[in-house]
Amino acid sequence: MICQQIIRRFEEIEYPIKHMSKTAKLEIDGKSYSLPIIEGTEGECAVDIANLRNESGYITLDDGYGNTGSCQSGITFIDGEKGILRYRGVPIEELAETSTFIETAYLIIYGKLPTHAELRQFSGLLTENENLHEDMKYHFAGFPATAHPMAILSSMINASSCFYPGLMAGRNPARFDIQAARLISQVRTIAAFAHRKSRGLPIIYPKPTYKYTANFLHMMFSDVYQDYELKPEVVKALDLIFLLHADHEQNCSTATVRMVASSQANLFACAAAGVCALWGPLHGGANQAVIEMLQQIHDAGDNGSRFIAAAKDKNSGRRLMGFGHRVYKNYDPRAKIIKRACDQLLNSLHINDPLLDIAKHLEEAALRDPYFLERKLYPNVDFYSGIIMRAIGLPLEMFTVIFAIGRMPGWIANYKETMADPKGRISRPRQIYTGQTLNHYVPIDQRG
Ligand code: CMC
Repeated sequence: MICQQIIRRFEEIEYPIKHMSKTAKLEIDGKSYSLPIIEGTEGECAVDIANLRNESGYITLDDGYGNTGSCQSGITFIDGEKGILRYRGVPIEELAETSTFIETAYLIIYGKLPTHAELRQFSGLLTENENLHEDMKYHFAGFPATAHPMAILSSMINASSCFYPGLMAGRNPARFDIQAARLISQVRTIAAFAHRKSRGLPIIYPKPTYKYTANFLHMMFSDVYQDYELKPEVVKALDLIFLLHADHEQNCSTATVRMVASSQANLFACAAAGVCALWGPLHGGANQAVIEMLQQIHDAGDNGSRFIAAAKDKNSGRRLMGFGHRVYKNYDPRAKIIKRACDQLLNSLHINDPLLDIAKHLEEAALRDPYFLERKLYPNVDFYSGIIMRAIGLPLEMFTVIFAIGRMPGWIANYKETMADPKGRISRPRQIYTGQTLNHYVPIDQRG
């Protein structure tokens, strides 16, 4: 019954493309090309180069895609200069203040805030799908205790597609709601099981009466004979972290999900690819790297000054982790919210973490330093989130997993948008070849 009602709600919201009357002119070898200009709903403009190669033989080159719009999307809006982030138009500050991760997940995936009834149905579907297939437990048994939980997470999400073959069809709106609910719900179960496995602890099953984040903490920290004591401020802080990570437009992992989805791979395969892309220290792995950096600074008895000097030296191989962003050239709005939440949680739990003092000192020093000011490098979402996770008792290697759990609604919404695009094409960038020119095969006994 629940599924039927939710399935009926699956219709795409249209975001019409606005072609502007003005065009861009490009001149190559004395020949002029007229390129259409597209305008988004917040006034940002793009030069449409889709036909440039057909007309001129030229492609564009943009290393790292710093200036390339890879798609049109109606999910998340960022103004990096002003430090604005909105999910489906709703400011992140309003969601952080009043919403929950699950309500926000609904907003991101379905494009509107849910009514009471819709939220109940969505939560019901998450609960129905929270248990892993029992046979998936054998896969956990095969990983060594030293396995990083991100490796387990991506493997197990991918393995899920083997257990639910009926859910694999790409463009199948009727199955989408169940796929999405299963993924959001089970990523948390897989993550908790991965942690228990790494500690040699028995698996704790989800409790259908618990809400999403409380249930995750239960599966992580309860004993077989004694439930973990849920503190409301801890549940709230972790729920906020999930919410703040829920989407962030075309970052490395989301662009990866869309890239894989463009081949019409199934949702589990796309999400597993997203987890792999997220793992690196320049992306989601930065939250773990920040704590490792703060700990090194602490252990070295430095107040951060020596580390800042090293981060500015291009030969040191170091960066101030948790600082800088491809899009934000201002304070990341999520970092502001997390910093406040960090102070609140540590006060409420009476925790005095020396790493928080070092982080604050680093931030103050960096924001006075011309190197960081000139390059517009400000704290990002990862700078303070790790200190909250430490206070909750989450182990370091789980930090990026927490990011992945939070990002799941964003990946799902981007997958859905990719699949629902009737004009969608497979993503296939071009390149400028810089290798050897024609180089004939030489038989092995004639090679020098
Ligand atoms: N510490 C020191 N210098 C930096 C830093 C930093 N954290 N970030 C950028 N720079 C310098 C960089 O060396 C370059 O200097 P120059 O112009 O003299 O060559 C300039 O600032 C521009 O940097 P970039 O590498 O071209 O910038 P990017 O947009 O390619 O990279 C970034 C963005 C986030 C990867 C980068 O700022 C970085 O490595 N930050 C540290 C890792 C981190 O915190 N990542 C989390 C990102 S937010 C969450 C997420 O999306 O996962």
